[in-house]
Amino acid sequence: MRMYDIIQRKRDNYELTDEQIRYFVKGYTDGSIPDYQAAALLMAIYFNGMNDHETTTLTLSMAESGDMIDLSSVKGITVDKHSTGGVGDKTSLIIAPCVASLGFKVAKMSGRGLGHTGGTVDKLESIPGYRTSLDRNEFIDNVNRIGIALVGQSGNLAPADKKIYALRDVTATVGCLPLIVSSIMSKKIAAGSQNILLDVKVGTGSFTPKLEDAIKLAQKMVDVGKLAGRKIAALITNMDVPLGKAIGNSMEIIEACEILQNKGPADLREVCVELSAYMVLLCTNDSYENCRKKVLESLENGSAYNKFKQLVSVQGGDSTYIDNPDLFKKATYSYDIKATQSGYVFSMDTACIGEVSLMLGAGREKKEDFIDYEAGIYIHAKTGDKVEKGQVIATLHTNRKHIIHEAELEYLKTLTFSKNAPPHQKLIYQLVK
Ligand code: URA
Repeated sequence: MRMYDIIQRKRDNYELTDEQIRYFVKGYTDGSIPDYQAAALLMAIYFNGMNDHETTTLTLSMAESGDMIDLSSVKGITVDKHSTGGVGDKTSLIIAPCVASLGFKVAKMSGRGLGHTGGTVDKLESIPGYRTSLDRNEFIDNVNRIGIALVGQSGNLAPADKKIYALRDVTATVGCLPLIVSSIMSKKIAAGSQNILLDVKVGTGSFTPKLEDAIKLAQKMVDVGKLAGRKIAALITNMDVPLGKAIGNSMEIIEACEILQNKGPADLREVCVELSAYMVLLCTNDSYENCRKKVLESLENGSAYNKFKQLVSVQGGDSTYIDNPDLFKKATYSYDIKATQSGYVFSMDTACIGEVSLMLGAGREKKEDFIDYEAGIYIHAKTGDKVEKGQVIATLHTNRKHIIHEAELEYLKTLTFSKNAPPHQKLIYQLVK
């Protein structure tokens, strides 16, 4: 088989065979296929697409390129969740313990933040002592003992995706449906859970700003997950506005704890309740209403909160920080941004708000950058809120004094104001199954 022929076939818009797809994934992962040929194939896929069968083969061969986590020794029903990424999205910190407190097994591998989106692993590492890397035995043992483990992706989980994603990143081929589907689903399938709920974000803070694109992406991922033998569904949720009020690592841990203690911002709570309810629904034959009721009970009676505390201490974290968030170190500088006019906040460019949090130190611009766990933005006024000129609309937290002025200007650029209230936005758009 020759890579040249595979590129030519896709360039001419023919379907690739299973063997051709597997040859490409294996050869690119082991280094025998050079970047320039892989890049040419990715561009041909970008323009000519892949059908469901090709996408499934690509996904499975990427999943099988490294460790396939075997959860067969987990006693109980395993369930996972994946978000396509957003700003202020701390839902995993809430729903994983919530669902585990209801008796389901959550063996979750999460990612780090990159670009304007945050990552669960970075947030967890802001808790002193928390270990995001466990060996295989400890990982499974914890899931069996307490129903939950939350770690970073092991180095050898879908290595084909790591290489292909890095190449897509520099060849303008990231925004391509079959490539996004195979990238996300290869990792989820390799991570081993039987039940998977996808949270597909739509809006200015996501990489599917248009609803129809988000639905298409969700449907493709669901179809591929089913063909791979998983029970799977997707919820399309709003990322036109940051989720909750806190953006930044320890600030998001604190806000997640508020929700787990039955407090905190209503939008974040509602998205978490819905995601958790649908995770439970995937695992049972119960009605949606009962699943939602159980989730609400777990938040209200403290069992979700206690499960999170147990998770933190079993993974080495100092759980006194969870009970007493004042222990988290604060950034040296906090700066209030004030509204420049009276009216309604009409829109927020959420990806750009994520970029402002990076300027403050809360994320990485490059993979090797360090994160300042204390840095971030606390948002006081969001889309639809009425403000008076001079009212505080956001507070910046940073250790980089020199950046504050620029960050303020950039933050203000992300907002538009209007005289009349903007149309109401949905938090949850639809279920795809
Ligand atoms: N997240 C991924 O893991 N892969 C993509 O291609 C896009 C988002």
